[in-house]
Amino acid sequence: ISINMTENAKPLIFNVIAECPNSKARTSKMILPHGEVDTPVFMPVGTQGTLKGMLPEQLESLGIQILLANTYHLGTKPGPDILKKAGGLHKFMNWNRNLLTDSGGFQMVSLLKLAEITEEGVKFQSLNKEKGEVMLTPEHSIEIQNAIGADIIMQLDDVVQTTVPDKKRISLSVERTTRWLDRCLKAHKNPKTQNIFPIVQGTLYEDLRRISANDLIQRTVNGYAIGGLSGGESKDDFWKIVHICTDLLPKDKPRYLMGVGFAIDLVVCSALGVDMFDCVFPTRTARFGCALTMTGQLNLKKAQYEKDLQPIDKDCTCNTCKNYTRAYLHGIVTELPVACHLLTEHNLAFQLRLMKNIRDSICEQRFPEFVREFVITLFPDKN
Ligand code: GUN
Ligand code: ZN
Repeated sequence: ISINMTENAKPLIFNVIAECPNSKARTSKMILPHGEVDTPVFMPVGTQGTLKGMLPEQLESLGIQILLANTYHLGTKPGPDILKKAGGLHKFMNWNRNLLTDSGGFQMVSLLKLAEITEEGVKFQSLNKEKGEVMLTPEHSIEIQNAIGADIIMQLDDVVQTTVPDKKRISLSVERTTRWLDRCLKAHKNPKTQNIFPIVQGTLYEDLRRISANDLIQRTVNGYAIGGLSGGESKDDFWKIVHICTDLLPKDKPRYLMGVGFAIDLVVCSALGVDMFDCVFPTRTARFGCALTMTGQLNLKKAQYEKDLQPIDKDCTCNTCKNYTRAYLHGIVTELPVACHLLTEHNLAFQLRLMKNIRDSICEQRFPEFVREFVITLFPDKN
């Protein structure tokens, strides 16, 4: 594989290595300031500069090439001044590979449900009690993300849940997201070292998704994201919107589908031409005692695992599967720190292996066969 480095220096090079002739799936070696990323990629989420239960060096030895962090939490604590003094989040958290930060508004709107959105920005109750109300503007989000120093940063967007039927409100969110993108681009201080990605909005309205994508692609950036999905809509609606969006976004730039991480969606959306994914699900579910496998999820708290001396998955080569049984894990699943570490390691290894299998099958021109096999393994009764 040869990598084209003759282009003018820019903080993202997207080299497609192979494409599937029967779908929109492709595999690439993407080059970012902190190293290569093989796509399609799943990016694990570490909220406050740590992924619960794992050390950065353990994440590195698992083969993780890019981690997600959250702007709002880091913007409050330790705050942009300390982060700048520390030389950015990479140095602060001892992670020398790539980082991506989300812009912060989505977390406030969707998780806390305390936010009020105006043209100026997102207003919410501070997590830091003394501070009262805080306004996160596009400019402030970029200022924090510049201090954090992630390799990819996200625009502040006006996210509306897919379950909101008010088309006028959604149309406003699409137009406002473009206006906020322009404010973010103007505020961005490090375009040579940090890539900013716009975010397509428009919930389930095809016409609004078209308007959103067509407006955003007028701005020159190194990649684009699809937002506002995976919020309770049906799989058919969800996949249809992803299909429309990937058709509208440029072929020669990475496409990032935000907040998606179930195995079936990673496979289907890779087929639809998505290159990057993130989700808290695999690591969060690990903390609830749940292990991921190709045939579905095992809830290790269940009594049926009490005397089960098999590993979680006999085909998994992770440290947990090599050294521990389901019965042992069942017994310690309430022993939080240790169980959290062991199950998080397995679930991360599962996501990484799935993505590697997707990439290898695209490279070797057998992606359709891979998808068929994947579906039969996950839903044996339906075949
Ligand atoms: N995470 C999941 N979905 C979204 C979205 O639509 N916007 C942002 N900023 N983050 C997300
Ligand atoms: Zn394992």
